[in-house]
Amino acid sequence: MYILKCYVCVLFNQSFFRMKTCKTKQELRSLLSILREKNCSVGFVPTMGALHKGHLSIIKKAKKKNNIVVVSIFVNPIQFDKKKDLINYPKTLDKDIELLKNVRCDVLFLPSEKEIYNDNPTSLSFDFDNLENKLEGKFRKNHFNGVATIVKKLFEIVEPNKAYFGEKDFQQLIIINKLVKKQNINIKIKKCPNYREKDGLSMSSRNARLTEKQRKAAPFIYKILKKVNKKFNNYKKTKEINKWVKNKFHKNSQLNLEYFAIAKEKSLKTVKIKKQNKKYRAFIAVFANKVRLIDNIQLYNK
Ligand code: PAF
Repeated sequence: MYILKCYVCVLFNQSFFRMKTCKTKQELRSLLSILREKNCSVGFVPTMGALHKGHLSIIKKAKKKNNIVVVSIFVNPIQFDKKKDLINYPKTLDKDIELLKNVRCDVLFLPSEKEIYNDNPTSLSFDFDNLENKLEGKFRKNHFNGVATIVKKLFEIVEPNKAYFGEKDFQQLIIINKLVKKQNINIKIKKCPNYREKDGLSMSSRNARLTEKQRKAAPFIYKILKKVNKKFNNYKKTKEINKWVKNKFHKNSQLNLEYFAIAKEKSLKTVKIKKQNKKYRAFIAVFANKVRLIDNIQLYNK
């Protein structure tokens, strides 16, 4: 059986060789149903395009563990709280397609807005036990309802065995975990590490919008997070660290701090006093003029 399964999937990869692009749900469903009948496992990497090395590392990871990898590119309008942010979101489709071919993505799902929302792009309303109102949720109203709406729709279309999400958007990752748990969705969610530039800046599609000066200033964010990690070992109370971070950004002329928080990894509740053997993370959002950058790191808790 396993040999047959591998044979069909290898045949798929070799005979078509080039990546298949599906623009409609129906096209994608019928292609995947043939493969699924032959027991090919499907890994899924949802994206909004403007692909970078971080995305590619996720796709490579998915390739290792699944017979077929589907990548979607869809800039989801309902997860943007500001229209300007949606308009300014980088769109680099031709380059994305080249990159996907280079990493041997099997299937690109490239739906139109009409295909997904049928002229009515509205969010469903979810209850994620208050995870959605913390950190990013305080500053981006309805953002996670928008994310969960599209992810749920894509899951229903692709029906993958495994779906891959980066730790770069840590809150998104745990909300998606909550989504599959609460809605009994039978898909394994795989977390992928935050991929960084050599100078430490977390890779993001938004980095392309930084001016040269802002780009040079941006690694400061990770530098501060690493120092926070050291300080976290020395202080029991987080108040001092919060103050220190605010002060550091106050002195930085290129970067404006929106929020910094040390929170529990599971509940995302901010902490005043740390306890031993609990997992904590530091979360940060910063503006470089109009470009919003987020980052987070796990804190080493002695
Ligand atoms: O992380 C992203 O790029 C998006 O939020 C996602 C998961 C593709 C949903 O639009």
